[in-house]
Amino acid sequence: MTEIISLQDGLLADIARTDTLDEVEALRVGALGKSGVVTALLKTLGAMTPDERKAKGPAIHALRESVTAALAARKAALEQAALDSRLASERIDMTLPADMPPQGSVHPVSQVMDELAEIFADLGFSVATGPEIEDDWRNFTALNIPETHPARAMHDTFYFPDRDVEGRAMLLRTHTSPVQVRTMMGGEPPFRIIAPGRVYRSDSDATHTPMFHQVEGLVIDKGIHLGHLKWTLETFLKAFFEREDIVLRLRPSYFPFTEPSVEVDVGYTLEKGQRIIGGSGDAENGGWMEVLGSGMVHPNVIRNCGLDPDEWQGFAFGTGVDRLAMLKYGMNDLRAFFDGDLRWLRHYGFSALDVPTLSGGVGA
Ligand code: DAH
Repeated sequence: MTEIISLQDGLLADIARTDTLDEVEALRVGALGKSGVVTALLKTLGAMTPDERKAKGPAIHALRESVTAALAARKAALEQAALDSRLASERIDMTLPADMPPQGSVHPVSQVMDELAEIFADLGFSVATGPEIEDDWRNFTALNIPETHPARAMHDTFYFPDRDVEGRAMLLRTHTSPVQVRTMMGGEPPFRIIAPGRVYRSDSDATHTPMFHQVEGLVIDKGIHLGHLKWTLETFLKAFFEREDIVLRLRPSYFPFTEPSVEVDVGYTLEKGQRIIGGSGDAENGGWMEVLGSGMVHPNVIRNCGLDPDEWQGFAFGTGVDRLAMLKYGMNDLRAFFDGDLRWLRHYGFSALDVPTLSGGVGA
């Protein structure tokens, strides 16, 4: 019996002295392993007489239990100590200054949207938004595009299988124009807003992607006429392209939600051999490039949005943000915008610290 007690004391003392998990494991094998000392004692139980077993059994089992428990406790303590020292050595002081500049870059689409917000803020416009999941009333009907109108087919719309609670067909908005409707119905005129955002059409090739970006503009006030539209767009395009020699050409056009409707072309000149994506000009004559759709907001649209067209008038415009980015920064494949290729992003991206401002140059 004293033998068992002194074996137990010795083992517990050895366990308490261990400094590493390897030492703990070595003691475990020496005591409880296949040929361990405790295992050997347990094996002697089988050969004992019942009386002997009654006398020694409990002590041997108690030995096994106390050694097992001591090993587990020591293992847990050493593991905790290792974790504590790792936590202490790997601590990061978040209040220290960074030793690396921020990584990543601002996507050209975000950059152009920021530039647009900056330019139009200076003209008194605020930024409005609307949901990408729209209903067909706001996307089409309210904008003077009734159900049977051919323009609905032109938009290659993605529809959802279900209707909303009001029984309206749900769709991914095909343009940012429904934000006009949301703006007019959601506040009191006058309004001066731009609405940049994602739009969707079932269309895909080098110059079309199923998701792309537009910016909408809307002014509703009293006595607004086409001259206000032309001045606003001219001022915007000069600021955006950062040149004073921009010439505009307003071409009669058709949009269901404007009357009259105009397409806006920017005139440009070319060096010999130079080409402009989407432009038809040559070195002798220069050319015109279509950049915007616009017009005076149709009285039906104003009326659909709950305002009296005899009292309130306005103009609207819309254009592709991706296209504006391509023109300004010289990219020629729209699909690359959405590939997430790091090399493209590093090349065409903008520094997050380089916020566009009018005073600093919007495209700096
Ligand atoms: N919503 C038109 C489109 O997606 C663009 C547009 C044209 C918007 C004329 C307007 C506008 O606000 O007046 O093609």
